[in-house]
Amino acid sequence: NSDYLTPTPPMGWNSWNAFEKDIDEKKIKEIADVMVSSGMRDAGYKYLVLDDAWMASERNKKGELVADSIKFPNGMKAVGDYIHSKGLKYGIYQCRGYLTCQKLPGSFEHEQIDMNSFAKWGVDYIKLDACYAAKNNRLSSEDFAIYHEAILNTNRPMVLSISDFGNGAWAWGGKNYGELWRTSGDIYPRIGSVYHCAETSGGNGTIHPAFNGLWQFAGPDSWNDPDMLQVGNLNTTDEDKVHFSLWSILAAPLMAGNDLRSMSKDVKDILLAPEVIAINQDPRGHQGYRVFNKDSIEIYNKPLSDGTTAVLILNKGQNKTDIIVKWNQIGLKGPQMVRDLWLQKDLGIYHGAFTGKNLGKHEHLLLKIGTKGQQLVEGPLPIPEENYT
Ligand code: GLA
Repeated sequence: NSDYLTPTPPMGWNSWNAFEKDIDEKKIKEIADVMVSSGMRDAGYKYLVLDDAWMASERNKKGELVADSIKFPNGMKAVGDYIHSKGLKYGIYQCRGYLTCQKLPGSFEHEQIDMNSFAKWGVDYIKLDACYAAKNNRLSSEDFAIYHEAILNTNRPMVLSISDFGNGAWAWGGKNYGELWRTSGDIYPRIGSVYHCAETSGGNGTIHPAFNGLWQFAGPDSWNDPDMLQVGNLNTTDEDKVHFSLWSILAAPLMAGNDLRSMSKDVKDILLAPEVIAINQDPRGHQGYRVFNKDSIEIYNKPLSDGTTAVLILNKGQNKTDIIVKWNQIGLKGPQMVRDLWLQKDLGIYHGAFTGKNLGKHEHLLLKIGTKGQQLVEGPLPIPEENYT
């Protein structure tokens, strides 16, 4: 459906994880340049999002938001023009509270005027946070309905990223107002934090019963968001890879959060891994769901549009171990081709099961299993996580 703003999970880069408040026009332009020269734009990373702290601490006399004049001396439209000139899309941060999380002017009681400014500046994507919103005396759903309306009034299509993890946007109908919603608190550059955020979106309620079965809410213009990527900011290449594989299988937004100007070849190769990105961007839009979780071993399954399925097997434990994925866990029968998506290599035809051998701490395999068009997994299978027989 061409009417979708983001038929597959949005991809791009966001300034927060790399720079926090320390952003300016020069840096953002350099990032835009690298998004093109690194091949990221052409791989699908099209949104360049300026997070908190781009704005001045006071509105202008008309009550409009203005750029921080030291950081962005040419104003925010100039930033957008540059981003667009590179064939990228322009994202910006605001907050539904009267202050942003960094205590700068929020959009409360300026909803329409701010959305109008964004439209005028050529914004394509709005990340809308929820700090200091208690004073609003409005439910999240009421607030986001107001912004949704205000965006429609501008006549400019703008993605609305609901950054309100405390209030379970999947449950209050966030998809009626925005295209993605946070499921977790802020991600930090540690593997434990990465696992925690993944668990909010794909954990079947282990974090809290209200987070059970979030995959059911995922689809075009309707994505669970376990927060932005820390790929490139973690301790090891294995950690960066497992992070990217988890976001891929969970159909999570892929918003890079590293300083692209100084990334290593390894990090670039991870962010650009074509077959891993393809799982995330599969047009079926199915979020992967966990089919096994025991003794620090996890298996996830993501049915794909071509009739095959993507499978992630992961060792979160300390010791080396074999991990077996059985076809009955992932809705398959008979002989099936197994492909390693990081190696981009067929591993061969397997009957009934596949064993990932000798996987160490934080090691995993991301596989594609099945022969094109032969398998029919209709939606997620109701396999309990503990079913390992
Ligand atoms: C919140 C959000 C972060 C980031 C900061 C900016 O903590 O969850 O992603 O936008 O605000 O202040």
